[in-house]
Amino acid sequence: MRTPTWTAVYGVLNILAVSVTCLPQPQANLPRDVSTTPMVFAHYMIQFQPPNLDYTNDINLAKSAGIDAFAIDYGGVPSALPYFADYLNRFYKAAEKLDFKLFLCIDTTTMTDAAMVVNLTNYYSGSTAQMKDSAGNIFLSSFETGSPPWNWQTDVINRINTPVTFLPGTLSEDAEYTASQNKGYGPFTWVHPASSVAGESTTDEAYATQRDANGKPWMAGIAPWFFKRMSTDQNWFHAQDSGIWVDRWMNLLKLKPNFIEIVTWNDFGESSYIGPADSKPNSVLTQTTTADYYGNLDHTAFLKMTQFFVRAFKAGQTTVTISPSEEEVFLFYRLQPVNAMGSNSIYPDNSWPLPENASYIQDNAYIVPFLASPATVYLSSGGKPWQMDAPVGVSKGTVAFTVGDQILTASRNINGAVLNKKGPAIQGQLPRYQGNVVAL
Ligand SMILES: *[C@@H]1O[C@H](CO)[C@@H](O)[C@H](O)[C@H]1NC(C)=O
Ligand SMILES: *[C@@H]1O[C@H](CO)[C@@H](O)[C@H](O)[C@H]1NC(C)=O
Repeated sequence: MRTPTWTAVYGVLNILAVSVTCLPQPQANLPRDVSTTPMVFAHYMIQFQPPNLDYTNDINLAKSAGIDAFAIDYGGVPSALPYFADYLNRFYKAAEKLDFKLFLCIDTTTMTDAAMVVNLTNYYSGSTAQMKDSAGNIFLSSFETGSPPWNWQTDVINRINTPVTFLPGTLSEDAEYTASQNKGYGPFTWVHPASSVAGESTTDEAYATQRDANGKPWMAGIAPWFFKRMSTDQNWFHAQDSGIWVDRWMNLLKLKPNFIEIVTWNDFGESSYIGPADSKPNSVLTQTTTADYYGNLDHTAFLKMTQFFVRAFKAGQTTVTISPSEEEVFLFYRLQPVNAMGSNSIYPDNSWPLPENASYIQDNAYIVPFLASPATVYLSSGGKPWQMDAPVGVSKGTVAFTVGDQILTASRNINGAVLNKKGPAIQGQLPRYQGNVVAL
């Protein structure tokens, strides 16, 4: 038996706990009270629709995971916008019926019309499904990679007929710069481009420090995975590999952002979804030769893990507590070695280079136990046996995978049942390059 390389979640996080207590205390004369009710949102791309344009299943799944609202990524080419307006209307109607909340996250990479942003925000501000904070202010957010062609305050916020809690998006690594821009209610930070979990933590700590110093709430983004192979210049992995999910959740539990947004619920184009992989993708993803490079791979396990992290976050806990009837052991892995190019020339992307940052990606399978009492977990990876002594709570085991079947078992019953999970086999080479993960 081989013992997996441990990601010492607890060791790492104990160190972070110390740095949390060292954060500067809030100053007098804060611009506003930084204490907010912790809430969790999920980023929903309006451009990907659920089967039959029925949002019911997504809403019910999100509700049962403890997610408070969908932040609807809204934007698109002008010809798509009339359709998206219809989808948005259906989405709000479904949410109203199911007592769920929504708010707009304007995607400034494709939205160019400030008047449309104002109109849509005003139009839905009175909906019973509109997400509001405890003061009754409506939420509005954005995804931004540069500055939009408008001034948020004068062209948008001032024209909205009700008070707005505006959380503008940033992809900036620099918390001080973001704070100096002093935009909106507080920043919404996407996963940062740091190449390591430690680098990401440093950036998150800087945002927590700024939040505590200037009193502006902070919304952190968290993603289960990233892989994109849409075109030669949109061809990348996230250099933090598996660190952007379990490790980041544990770190954020310590840093306590005011809000957390899961990025994403359904961005199939970036393989970052936690929702069902049953969407009707948009035109780019439905062209025969570029179809489904994300493989419709099942990410159900990420959604199941979400409920435990969300519960801990909302309770202000820095560890995850699991009852015996909630125990689960999850597994996620890619279906091929990172350097194996696709074999079939019908896929044009097989002639593209490896995705950017492939060199950071390890040929690993990740075991994520959520336990009420310790257990030994076994992974047979392509017939090679591994074992992991998993402690109480959440932990992550990292195994160098072997091509073949991946079979997960345990030394005892998990939640009253024999653990025996087997996902699709890892192949030495696939017809098409595949960098998404399957999670079970
Ligand atoms: C504002 O948006 C609503 C909802 O999409 C739409 O019905 C209405 O026509 C829009 N109004 C204007 C002036 O664009
Ligand atoms: C690749 O990783 C580097 C180092 O972390 C980062 O700066 C860069 O933004 C990453 N590229 C993409 C496309 O994520």
